[in-house]
Amino acid sequence: MLEQLDELYNEALEKLNQAQTTAELSAWYKEMLGRKGQVYLLTRQVGQLDPAERPQAGKRINAIKQELEACYEEKLAALKTAELEAQIAASSLDVTLPGRRQWRGRLHPSTQILREIYQIWGKMGFQIFRSRDVETDEYNFELLNIPQHHPARDLWDTFHTITPGVILRTHTSPGQIHAMHAYHPEPIRVILPGMCYRYEQITARSEIQFHQVEGLAVGKHITFTDLKGTLTEFVRRMFGAERKVRFRASYFPFTEPSAEMDVECLLCQGDGCQVCKYTGWLEILGCGMVHPVVLRNGGYDPAVYSGFAFGMGPERIAMLKYGIDDIRYFWGNDLRFLEQF
Ligand code: DAH
Repeated sequence: MLEQLDELYNEALEKLNQAQTTAELSAWYKEMLGRKGQVYLLTRQVGQLDPAERPQAGKRINAIKQELEACYEEKLAALKTAELEAQIAASSLDVTLPGRRQWRGRLHPSTQILREIYQIWGKMGFQIFRSRDVETDEYNFELLNIPQHHPARDLWDTFHTITPGVILRTHTSPGQIHAMHAYHPEPIRVILPGMCYRYEQITARSEIQFHQVEGLAVGKHITFTDLKGTLTEFVRRMFGAERKVRFRASYFPFTEPSAEMDVECLLCQGDGCQVCKYTGWLEILGCGMVHPVVLRNGGYDPAVYSGFAFGMGPERIAMLKYGIDDIRYFWGNDLRFLEQF
């Protein structure tokens, strides 16, 4: 019996050495140490031995089981490692390659230019006053001295909502009334930035949505000279001291007198191009002295107070500053454009 056991042990070890894969190894395990394996079969025979021989044979068979188990575990670990290494060597995955760079976002060019504008006005003593995008006809038009059916309404092609009298603001000017109501009777120096909406034909110069930065100064003894000096100073800070500006007389219902301010077109150096409509100048804002009716609607007595107001287009300013020849790029969501800023 003991000889038989030794033989089985040697045979088992030899076969174990021959196993090349984990699959072959499991087959070996089943044959030798499995529930109906050879070691088991011999174990059963031990029971039929002479009582005198039994203890020795039993001891030996237990030792063999343990040793074979240990050899099996060792071989299994070795084969697993070898198989993993072979798999890695055969695959194209190179774990030593550097990782991909994370894509970093950036601020939209309009946001960048708005922040620059805020900085300049902030240093000149103007606070930001926010007002709403959805307005009433009353604030967007009537309180700004644009009565119903007045022909001046044609200047603003309006988006209406299904609620009568509620519209998307066509300009930031209604914020002037909100600011006056909030500040009265204190003097005012604010800018009112925000998105405006117009139902108009889209061209290289105009969009159906765009930003405006409105400005409002109200106080005693404010004159047209203050308006010209303040706006000229803004342009100098924005575009540099050498940049030429001009004021043209104009008309707005909420200012009297009214003007438009042009900056020399940098896209064409004043020669004339698509963006400046071949004039060499680009209009960047409308302005004027706050109309007495508007002052009164805001709660200020026009006999005591005066003020100036302006409304500028930051996208226009960005176009001028960065040489962008079409305003439609701003909301076109084309990364090739946006990534340049
Ligand atoms: N609200 C005008 C527009 O959208 C721009 C404007 C002109 C604003 C003159 C003003 C102003 O405050 O004084 O065309």
